[in-house]
Amino acid sequence: MAETKLVNLKIDDREVQVAAGTTVIEATRQLGIEVPSFCYYPGLTLAAACRMCLVEVEKMPKLQTACTLVAGEGMVVRTNTDQVRNARKFMLEFLLTNHPLDCPVCDKGGECELQDMVFRYGADTSRFVEEKIHRPEEKWSNLVYYDAPRCILCFRCVRVCDEGMDVKALGVGIRGANSIIIPNGGDHLDCEECGMCIDICPVGALTSGTYRYKTRPWEMQYVPTICAHCSNGCKTTLSVRNHEIIRGNNRDHSGINEEFLCVKGRFGFDFTQHPERIKQPMVRKGEKLYPVSWEEAAQEAAKRLHQLHSAYGPEGVGFIGSNRTSNEENYLLQKLARATFGTNNIDHHRTADYTGLTTALGERSADSLLTMDQLYHAKTVLLIGNDATNQNPLVAWQIRTNIRHHNAKLFVIHPTEVRLDRKAKQMIELGSVLESAAVRWLATGEGNLPQELANQLAALKQALEAESDVAIVFGSGISGAAIANLVEFGSHLPGKTRYMALGDYANSRGAADMGVLPDRLPGYAYLDDKSALEALERHWGAKLSMTAGLTAPQMVEAAQSGKLAALYVVGANPLARYGTLGFGRGKVQLLIVHDLFLTETALQADIVFPAASAYEKDGTVTNTAGEIQLLRKAAEVMGTRSDFDLLRIMSHQLEKMGLGKAFHYKTPASVFEEIRKVVPGYNVQLAGLLTGGAEATKPHFSKNGHAPYDVPAELIRSANDTLFTSGSLGRFCTMMQSLPEAEAKS
Ligand code: SF4
Ligand code: SF4
Ligand code: SF4
Ligand code: FES
Repeated sequence: MAETKLVNLKIDDREVQVAAGTTVIEATRQLGIEVPSFCYYPGLTLAAACRMCLVEVEKMPKLQTACTLVAGEGMVVRTNTDQVRNARKFMLEFLLTNHPLDCPVCDKGGECELQDMVFRYGADTSRFVEEKIHRPEEKWSNLVYYDAPRCILCFRCVRVCDEGMDVKALGVGIRGANSIIIPNGGDHLDCEECGMCIDICPVGALTSGTYRYKTRPWEMQYVPTICAHCSNGCKTTLSVRNHEIIRGNNRDHSGINEEFLCVKGRFGFDFTQHPERIKQPMVRKGEKLYPVSWEEAAQEAAKRLHQLHSAYGPEGVGFIGSNRTSNEENYLLQKLARATFGTNNIDHHRTADYTGLTTALGERSADSLLTMDQLYHAKTVLLIGNDATNQNPLVAWQIRTNIRHHNAKLFVIHPTEVRLDRKAKQMIELGSVLESAAVRWLATGEGNLPQELANQLAALKQALEAESDVAIVFGSGISGAAIANLVEFGSHLPGKTRYMALGDYANSRGAADMGVLPDRLPGYAYLDDKSALEALERHWGAKLSMTAGLTAPQMVEAAQSGKLAALYVVGANPLARYGTLGFGRGKVQLLIVHDLFLTETALQADIVFPAASAYEKDGTVTNTAGEIQLLRKAAEVMGTRSDFDLLRIMSHQLEKMGLGKAFHYKTPASVFEEIRKVVPGYNVQLAGLLTGGAEATKPHFSKNGHAPYDVPAELIRSANDTLFTSGSLGRFCTMMQSLPEAEAKS
């Protein structure tokens, strides 16, 4: 690798060494010296629009803009001379020409970069006596409002929408003092509604429909946690007042997503306060569900589960878990199924075949999963069968930013055209040919593909063979044997090929990793893997079954036909998803549901427990890249309990009746301690997690001579969410539902 050339310079009498090409403003930041800037924003192109960053440079006749000046060998820079301070003061006076001086009533007051600078440089008087140009505030959408007089024309919003989002919904209109920002719809926005423009705006010119004028920054608490929606695992800081979430952002750039959040992560939290939240346990009496006490519901559930288990044995009971509940809750649910009830009838809605990927990689699993950061740095990316812009917004952001910052090469294979195509070196539209067929062709040259498609694939293969360290990212259309083909293909490419399977929901990967699967134990261990089985039996003090259980669709069918006596559903809606016999509960004798809302499944239940959402609990989740992060409780909704609590309560009730052992974990953290010991790959460093970082799991998995793995394609189903939908949760996000784009794109 070529060595980075370094240059030496002096800033405020301190020596600093930086990589050649570094700007002076970045060099000052390395020394912790603040040079004020409005238009400069790391990662975006330079605008040199605000002139706030002026500094003195020896041997240069005039003040220089530190954001555009490249550091040179021997340069001597001064950032805090009288001349520089005066220049900043004058620039502020100029920026305030039309800006209203009403910070006390501005929505940005208390967290405004302009307000801070005026305080610091004392631009408290103005020589402008002309009347300020006034324009009324504009509502561009339910989420984005624009107040032109407050706008300082730094163009951060225009650039983040164009360069960062690749949406290009904002432009600049009119020249001179009347210049303003204009949305693509003329007087309204038609865009992704990500709110990146609002967040990046240094002043109160762009404000958010969900937050504006509700509170003040100093009246809130800030809770860092993980987005509850898709599987990408963006870190979000929730601003909370009186247990109510008021906004979400990631302004401290921490976590795997830096400043990025999509519309769901930034605005999709009002489901927590939705009037239809279930807040009391309910038990069916005849046709209807009636509210009952916690005691009554828990006793009734345990009593009936115990009876049915005694009458029908372990095979008579089934469990469907969630791809949104935490790792600890998923772990406890499969422990309840396996250790307490002795059954492997446990599964969840699988949106990506993580089992297939781990099995195909075998011993290579530990170092072959692609993290979000590696995706940002990969020189070449192959994206197959996923419209990441819609389905995996952070993945799309990482790819776009990588192309912008590092000139990465992108190759796309997809049934139809997708937005990322316009960034791709080569795009292959498959039409009606399955992704798995294309992958098989790439790996083996077998299969009957149309000649034109075969030629395109051959060109793509040749191009990839000339690259190294390729990142392969794929959707739910590639599962089972097709993943084995893909890994076979990837293993023949130069360098280190890494893989990311794209699931749909916040803990899709965690649910699979924790063993919420009928044919694998935690860490994907085979049911007959003696050492894994015995380790669990030792930890749990129970004898475990080695017979594979029913899959989620099989359990729904068995419940509806009466072959399953009891079905226990935690945070899922399987009747809507797999209800091949209609949404009815059929002949199942007992249906227990934990949920936030009365979904199609909860409406059919015999006993319903009101569950807390991801924003109302502590724990961990694992994103689709296999990175673990901490969930922290931000809000509280009266009357609900976390699934961790509910499963603990259930285990205690069952123990009283002589079934299994009660769970004695005091907190989710104590469950995580056990997970670190028994789930291969989860023994991660706690320090990284506790300080808000993501820790990559390193699964160690051996095929142990098992037959090649495959899975019926219909078992791995994407929910095909868009930017504006999020399964059942999205239905209760009132703000997102109110967006016209949601209707058009869902
Ligand atoms: S909300 Fe997002 S997509 Fe819409 S204008 Fe702002 S940055 Fe662009
Ligand atoms: S709206 Fe905000 S971000 Fe956009 S140009 Fe004006 S001040 Fe800058
Ligand atoms: S990309 Fe996914 S995880 Fe990130 S904010 Fe959007 S929905 Fe949430
Ligand atoms: S920050 Fe340098 S000109 Fe705006």
